[in-house]
Amino acid sequence: MESAVIQRQYDDVIAAQYDHDPQNTTSNSLNRALNHLEAAGLLSGLLPAMKVLDIGMGTGMFLAKLRARSARLIEPCGIDISRQMAAIAHQKLPDLISAIDDGVNLDQHFCEERFDLVATHFVTGFVPIEHIAPRIFAKLDTGGVWSFVGGTTAGYRELQRRAAHPLIKLLFGSKPPNLQGMICPNSEREVVDVLEKNGFEILTSETYEPELQFPDFRTFIDFAYHGGWLTPFVEEIGLHKAKKWQQAILNALVFPVVDHHNIVLTLARRSA
Ligand SMILES: C[S@@+](CC[C@H](N)C(=O)[O-])C[C@H]1O[C@@H](n2cnc3c(N)ncnc32)[C@H](O)[C@@H]1O
Repeated sequence: MESAVIQRQYDDVIAAQYDHDPQNTTSNSLNRALNHLEAAGLLSGLLPAMKVLDIGMGTGMFLAKLRARSARLIEPCGIDISRQMAAIAHQKLPDLISAIDDGVNLDQHFCEERFDLVATHFVTGFVPIEHIAPRIFAKLDTGGVWSFVGGTTAGYRELQRRAAHPLIKLLFGSKPPNLQGMICPNSEREVVDVLEKNGFEILTSETYEPELQFPDFRTFIDFAYHGGWLTPFVEEIGLHKAKKWQQAILNALVFPVVDHHNIVLTLARRSA
């Protein structure tokens, strides 16, 4: 997926709605990531200030939650491709130091700094984990940690199955839904392998499968298009412009849907 397209979608479609967080999937996932940091003893007020770099920090949801939860002082930095998402983050975190750029260029930013925590949360569908892993290693202080949170291609099984209905294909084109390249990696095993190969020691890892409820087309579009979860896919097949009669067919054939996402959360330490 082209980064100019992603940037436009986040600036123009998603930023204004992102914090509504339909079904609390982002918020609940980030809370679990915070639980892992807390359990590892990294949020203790006895420790010196924590320098944090959030890659694809979006509206600053994680950094704000981290600051609220942590007894330890937080010094927040971030990089994001979307100026609009970053503008919201700056409202929540007035001391945030941010760069607006593609995360693949990470090594061109914060060159003099070393971090105690680097976060990549729901961004590795855009910035490949294999590319970013050695660059995160280089940005971390010895003993610093990487908080990884990302949806896998094992998510949305039921939606993927129903989207393969012949009538849906007839209405919205014959291409089968392809989530590869939009959501990755493929599994927790894959994340753990990449991190270990790049010199990280795994502290905690889990796969979280929150239930998703889509009673009708409208709730699906709020989540998948405005909420940012499947915006490129929705635009690609034109679902966001579905006419009233098309929506009625979708409501009859596809919805309601109860589905699950599949989200990997891994906390890993940079080995000495
Ligand atoms: C799903 S949001 C996640 C935001 C935040 N990490 C969170 O968990 O709430 C993805 C974020 O990554 C940003 N993004 C997308 N592609 C990017 C890229 N190539 N480089 C940097 N940021 C990117 C988007 O602008 C958006 O803010």
